[in-house]
Amino acid sequence: MERENQRVVLVTGASSGIGLACATHLAGRGFRVYGTSRRGTGGAPPGTMTGLGSVTMLTADVTEDHSVEQVVGSVLSREGRLDIVVNNAGMAIAGPIENTSIEEAKRQLEVNFFGAFRVCRAVLPAMRRQGSGYIVNIGSIGGVIAIPYQAMYSASKFALEGLSETLRLEVRPFGIRVVIIEPGDHKTGLTQNRQLTEMSGTDVYQESFQAALAQTARDEQGGPGPEQIARLLYRIVNKRNPRLRYTIGPGAQRAAVWLKRLLPNSVLEHGMRTYYGLGG
Ligand SMILES: NC(=O)c1ccc[n+]([C@@H]2O[C@H](COP(=O)([O-])OP(=O)(O)OC[C@H]3O[C@@H](n4cnc5c(N)ncnc54)[C@H](OP(=O)(O)O)[C@@H]3O)[C@@H](O)[C@H]2O)c1
Repeated sequence: MERENQRVVLVTGASSGIGLACATHLAGRGFRVYGTSRRGTGGAPPGTMTGLGSVTMLTADVTEDHSVEQVVGSVLSREGRLDIVVNNAGMAIAGPIENTSIEEAKRQLEVNFFGAFRVCRAVLPAMRRQGSGYIVNIGSIGGVIAIPYQAMYSASKFALEGLSETLRLEVRPFGIRVVIIEPGDHKTGLTQNRQLTEMSGTDVYQESFQAALAQTARDEQGGPGPEQIARLLYRIVNKRNPRLRYTIGPGAQRAAVWLKRLLPNSVLEHGMRTYYGLGG
């Protein structure tokens, strides 16, 4: 098998949706793929292995330092190297900002932002020593255009944009490439796994919150499958100098990213209020 296809990959959140599609797609092309899930081995200790087709699954929770260190250590001790890391593990919390507790906000950022940050810190020493590596963060179009009633989700993805942009500058001298993929709505488990803030149903925002939430769910469940993101990932890790950002998803959502750059904010805001049924 060609050297190209023997590269070692770690995909966080590989039990479902985008992570599962990315892990199996790369494994199908001969990469040596490790995936993580919190429940992959039924509560067994971190670093325990099970098989998911040709993907080796390891238990890890990206919100825990020790768990992340253990899983990265496990891959490195087996393979002696780590070429590609996909920071994909994530979840969504929805609710009006006014009724979001500090704990709920922290929980959201703990997974989507600090989780990716933790993994970056854990893999960078090995990638620096190798003098090569790809870190691919799964952001969101919601990290470019904020989604109503998903402020903490958007904040976590905006933060990931900043981390990716800076990390790219810092590690390029060591041969490490950093990329952020910004998916629009795709059909995955994210919709079903979305958590609502505890006070979300009991307040004056109820009507527009429900309208916005229903629109988001329709867009996700009516969206494309995650396989196209996996194919994009494959193209990215085969480029010597990939771009910082890749936006992928339904045409209207990709167009909105461009319009945000070109149009006054008032125009986009009007479109968002109308689209999500927010009133005002
Ligand atoms: N679907 C979309 O429309 C969309 C759009 C833009 C961006 N994204 C992003 O894509 C990524 C993947 O989401 P998805 O849509 O594929 O959703 P999904 O089907 O719900 O998959 C989420 C994955 O993340 C893992 N995960 C969740 N919390 C975790 C934690 N604390 N530690 C470790 N793993 C954890 C889950 O694994 P376990 O539960 O087994 O641990 C699962 O494998 C997320 O970062 C999401 O924000 C999705």
